Parts: sequence; structure tokens; C-alpha cells
Amino acid sequence: MKPASITDYRALAKARLPHFLFEYIDGGSYDEVTLERNVADLRAIALRQRVLRDVSAIETSTELFGRRWALPVGLGPVGLAGIYARRGEVQAARAAGAAEIPFVLSTVSACSLAEVSAGAGVPWFQLYFVKDRGFVADLIARAREAKCGALVLTVDLAVPGSRYRDARAAGGGLKRWSQLLARPGWLWDVGIKGRPHSLGNLAPILGRTAPLSDFQAWIHANFDPSVGWKEVEWVRRQWPGPLVIKGVLDPEDARSALGCGAEGLVVSNHGGRQLDGVQSSARALPAIADAVAGKMKLLADGGVRSGLDVVRMLSLGADFVLLGRAWAYALAGGGQTGVAHILKLIEAEMRVAMALTGVTSIVQVNSSVIDRA
Ligand SMILES: Cc1cc2nc3c(=O)[nH]c(=O)nc-3n(C[C@H](O)[C@H](O)[C@H](O)COP(=O)(O)O)c2cc1C
Repeated sequence: MKPASITDYRALAKARLPHFLFEYIDGGSYDEVTLERNVADLRAIALRQRVLRDVSAIETSTELFGRRWALPVGLGPVGLAGIYARRGEVQAARAAGAAEIPFVLSTVSACSLAEVSAGAGVPWFQLYFVKDRGFVADLIARAREAKCGALVLTVDLAVPGSRYRDARAAGGGLKRWSQLLARPGWLWDVGIKGRPHSLGNLAPILGRTAPLSDFQAWIHANFDPSVGWKEVEWVRRQWPGPLVIKGVLDPEDARSALGCGAEGLVVSNHGGRQLDGVQSSARALPAIADAVAGKMKLLADGGVRSGLDVVRMLSLGADFVLLGRAWAYALAGGGQTGVAHILKLIEAEMRVAMALTGVTSIVQVNSSVIDRA
């Protein structure tokens, strides 16, 4: 199959990855109600078709945190991407760099910040707060020394939500081996030639050879549920660059964030992987945009599967949109080329959506492009 959409890359990822790995990317928590809402609510937004408005010159670039990006789109933090394709974070970061958009490196990536910076250019860094404050301070220092363009502090993982699909696909010994042997292409390319399979940024506390199977157990044991706004201020004091709080879904939390010194928020429910049953990002976004009233930059993610969805998120009040599964599928299905391809697709789809809603620049993509009838 020649992939023509992000959905096609999902099918390729499914065919290429061992079952447990595809389930890890594709799944959400509990009954996946929020995961489905994210996709469905965004899709349900009807755009307004406008005609005869001279759309011969469309400009998709936008400014964020002192830099101009070719699209109002970034590759959001996705853990373990380095095992979806060989040294996957480096491949994805290269595709993002070539497309002139930001790449956000997860704390729990396979490739370390140093490996990605050397192989693809310095990414943004996503920070999870763990109980060992000395280690958090050390991660921030590494991001500061590398001169990462932004620090994205994820706050919606105080406790991990359960994912039924991971539990069902898990298993050691024969079960794991039968899943691996069913995907010989992945096994050779990533499983054997793509080593080491460790969490690069956590090597100082986990060791370089800690198996990835320890990953969930480590999260349960080490993520810190006691974190509050004073810890955000603590991070703020150590991080001089743009600080973004990821995982806000409620306008009251957004109002609280106004005083914390961060430059941006990501409206997100972690792709429906945390508290199932919460509102979709698309539904939550307009009230948060009202609460923030332009005082912070608003990023959003959740359910974005096309350039039309990017335009929809912007129309609801986002300044910038992060991709999650979209790029993970493309990386698993087609490596760096796959990620580069979906970014081209997104740009082309955005251009069509902008032309046919009658706008020519990103600032014009607002609630006026939505049909509220
Ligand atoms: C496989 C996977 C791993 C993820 N890992 C992280 C992570 O390490 N840090 C983080 O802040 N968010 C993580 N997320 C959440 C994404 O950054 C993003 O919020 C979510 O995927 C958006 O929803 P979407 O996938 O429907 O676009 C992960 C999401 C997926 C699907």
C-alpha cells in the first residue's frame, strides 16, 4: 500500500510492529472513551466553505517562542519512539528539522537528549517530575546546557491510568517471542540493529542496560503524585527559556497557570491515556482560550489526524498544535521518510482547508472559519 494519509500509516505501523508495541501506541486508558472523543469531537467540527476571496497566496508559517516555524505544528513528546523505528527519535527529529517545525523529546525516550542533539539538532525537552528532585534538577540542567528551545512540563501523569490493551498484550517468554518473530523486519532492523533499547535520559539512575520491560513499573514507583504549583515555580527558577505546562484541561487550572510564570500551556488529556471519561481536547479548548485571554501561548493536542484537524484546533483557540500518535504511526510505518511525508500531507491539507475557508494566514484561522449552524 502506498500511504496517502495518517490513517494509512496507522495500518502500516500495525503491520510492521510487534503486537504489544502497536497496542502501546494505539491504545488509551480503560474503555478509551476519551481517546475516541478526541478524534470524533475534532472531526465533527464543520468548517465554513467560503468562495471568491483571492486565496492565491497562502502563508502557513507562524511565530512561537521567538522563532518562526513553517507550520503551527510540532511533534509532541511520545515515549519509547526509539523502538518504533531504529533510533527513532533521531529519525523523527530530523524530519521535524527539515520541515522547520519543533520536535519535543520525551523524558522517557530511547535516544538521549545528547544523541538527538548530535544527530538531528537540539530538540525541545519534555520533563516528567520524579520523586528524586536531584535527578529532576539534573535533567533540567542538561536541557539548559543543550539550549533546548522550550521545556515542556507534563503534569497530567500524577498517577498512571490503566491501559487494558497493554495488559492484554503483555506477557513474557513464549508469548513475547511469538509477537516478535511475527515481525521479522522490525526484529532485525530495530530489535537487533537498533540497540541499545534503554531509556537514554534515565541512564544515570536506571543504568544503561535496564530492560524496557521495567518501564511501567519504574513509572509507578518513581513518578511523584505530590507535585503542585510550588514545584512548577521551582522548575521556573531553574529554567530560563520558554516553559510550557502540558496536560491542562480545565479553565480553572488554566487561570491558576497564569501566575506561575510559564509562557505556554498544552491543552491535553494525554491522548486519552490517563483519566478516561474526561472531556476531549477539542471541547475543552475554547473555554481555556477564554480563560487565558491571550496572556499565554496555547498549544493543543489530542485526536489530530490530518491538516484539517490542525485547522480545526486553531479555529478553537489554539496557537500551535502538537501531534502524538500521528507521527508515531508514521515513524513506525515509514521511519524518517514516513514522518516527513505526513508533515507534507498536513501542510497540503492545511492549504486546502485555508483556501476553501477563505483565509490566507495563520492568524486569520479563528472561530470565523467554523460553521456553528
Ligand atoms: C505512545 C505514546 C507515548 C506518549 N508518551 C508521552 C510522554 O512521554 N510524555 C508526554 O508528555 N506525553 C506523552 N504522550 C502524550 C502525547 O504527547 C499527546 O498528548 C497525545 O498523544 C495526543 O493525542 P493523539 O495521540 O491523539 O494526537 C504519549 C502518547 C502516546 C500515544
